[in-house]
Amino acid sequence: MIAFILLTILPVLPVLLYWGNPYFLEDLKCVIREIQIRREFGKILKNFFSLVDCFLDQVKKHPQKTFLVFEDSSYTYSQADRESNKVARALQTHTHLKEGDTVALFLGNEPQFVWVWLGLAKLGCVASLLNTNIRSKSLLHCFSCCEAKVLITGAELRGAVEEVLPALREQGVRVFLLSESCDVEGMESLSDHIQQASDQPLSPQLKANMNFKTPALYIYTSGTTGLPKAAVVIHQKLWRASLIASNVGVHSNDVLYLNMPLYHSAGFMLGLCGAIERGCTVVLRRKFSASNFWNDCRKYNVTVIQYIGETMRYLCNMPKRDNDKDHKVRLAVGNGIRADTWTEFLEQFGNVRICEFYGATESNVAFVNYTGKVGAIGREHFLHKLRNPYALIEYDTETEEPIRDSRGFCIKVPKGETGLLVAKIGVRTPFFGYAKNEQQTERKKLKDVFEKGDVYFNSGDLLRIDNEGFIYFQDRIGDTFRWKGENVATTEVADLLLTVDFVEEANVYGVKVPGYEGRIGMAALTLKENVDFDNKLIYQHVKNYLPSYARPRFIRIQDALPVTGTFKQLKKKLSAEGFNPNVIQDPLFFLEDNEGYVSMSQEIFSSISEGTLRL
Ligand SMILES: *[C@@H]1O[C@H](CO)[C@@H](O)[C@H](O)[C@H]1NC(C)=O
Ligand SMILES: *[C@@H]1O[C@H](CO)[C@@H](O)[C@H](O)[C@H]1NC(C)=O
Repeated sequence: MIAFILLTILPVLPVLLYWGNPYFLEDLKCVIREIQIRREFGKILKNFFSLVDCFLDQVKKHPQKTFLVFEDSSYTYSQADRESNKVARALQTHTHLKEGDTVALFLGNEPQFVWVWLGLAKLGCVASLLNTNIRSKSLLHCFSCCEAKVLITGAELRGAVEEVLPALREQGVRVFLLSESCDVEGMESLSDHIQQASDQPLSPQLKANMNFKTPALYIYTSGTTGLPKAAVVIHQKLWRASLIASNVGVHSNDVLYLNMPLYHSAGFMLGLCGAIERGCTVVLRRKFSASNFWNDCRKYNVTVIQYIGETMRYLCNMPKRDNDKDHKVRLAVGNGIRADTWTEFLEQFGNVRICEFYGATESNVAFVNYTGKVGAIGREHFLHKLRNPYALIEYDTETEEPIRDSRGFCIKVPKGETGLLVAKIGVRTPFFGYAKNEQQTERKKLKDVFEKGDVYFNSGDLLRIDNEGFIYFQDRIGDTFRWKGENVATTEVADLLLTVDFVEEANVYGVKVPGYEGRIGMAALTLKENVDFDNKLIYQHVKNYLPSYARPRFIRIQDALPVTGTFKQLKKKLSAEGFNPNVIQDPLFFLEDNEGYVSMSQEIFSSISEGTLRL
């Protein structure tokens, strides 16, 4: 009898337990959405179907629907299809590209970016999306690590490519410029080839060997150390990321405003590919502009926006206007919004559903906030956890290593406390690592976490989960920090500083600035004997070789750099000390826009703290 009661109650027990929970409905909706997505995914799994096939289906479904709006032009699904056929055919005629070959794209946000990528996908080629901020050594490095034989660039980036052209030519790389003419030796113009090409469809046979596990893209990330790494994005991962749009409730009649760089996974996979999966309209912008943002939204009837914490703050910092709530935006998807900005945004711009998600290009775990809890990046629920085993573990801030118990295993943090997010690597949650970088790939793996032989992905992020199951982002550890939506690898910046004649040692870290997301770059240096700090020389170096977001904004000169017992540089203490000249006795310098490094003064410090000097 008792057994019978137990058997009948057991299956409904979770439901009963949940009943009193205020988030029951939201959780249930999320579970249902996930089940729907699983089913979709199942279909895709059975008969491999790539995103470009999905695009072709959308073309068939609604050829005359607007797919892309850019500045004063707009393109229907059918036009986009034909444009990309022309690109594919031009490349077919003028190169020997075949299925599986990689082509690097060094292009800003513009329709051509989309046509070229679609064209490459139709040829079964893999696109490697280069960050348009990188230059010289970094650019060459990024280009080489995906083994591309062709580079396609746009007119405005021509100078950056010319700088590395001799090295590219040495490697036998073909360089194409998207412009009508090109007078640089070693670069070929592609636009006239495209114009002359036929717009007839390409044979699906060209990409017959693609499957779920073959690479679709390379997207660059600053992972943990060193130069940027090319994260391998296989078709399965691309699908998963694209389906986030559907998961957060984007519909086919939505108009998505895309102002994030297409070379990042958020803009490309969630934004562009998410829109293709939904069959909706994309309004593409070269880059984010706070002053044009709402006018654009009104002009194009935008309903969904993508954000990072910084762009939401810029919007909130704009002067208030009477028509701030006059728009059709109903949903904002992104990450990194601070709780205060979140509240402010809702007050100023009205009832917009903000959907914060968490996930890295290469990581095997992601969270989506589906309840609207201000500040949370997501919510734990059993189904997600069942499929994606993850944990928050104790972590030693000094040695930057997980803490292990007497048996050598990691320790889960108690509810409510901050821990390092690790996610189990398995068949359903694979980690594909970085192209041609076995060492960095291995570094992201944590072994023997809870039992002998298990392997986890080390996210490098500190998270907290509260008693109600809401997940909060706390901080990022290790050798990277985030500034203006870009990851900065401290070792890459330090390596560059070490090439400056008078620098003996360099320790690069991020410091918090009141009112900003992430951390801004700062460097502690020691100088070689009997030489002075040459602010002009170091400024030239920094300006020539580092993208603006990675340049150390503050420099601190020390007699010796503090290290741990194992000679690891100490960053935490320096980072906590910040850049207040009243507190720090060492010589301090500040990088003034277009000026170079100047002595840090109390006035500068105050203007930064008060927000009158913008960084
Ligand atoms: C936006 O919507 C309004 C009203 O529904 C419509 O009149 C207008 O043509 C739309 N604009 C665009 C660019 O679609
Ligand atoms: C995420 O948070 C917002 C808070 O504004 C909420 O309205 C929304 O429902 C949440 N997201 C999802 C997918 O439900």
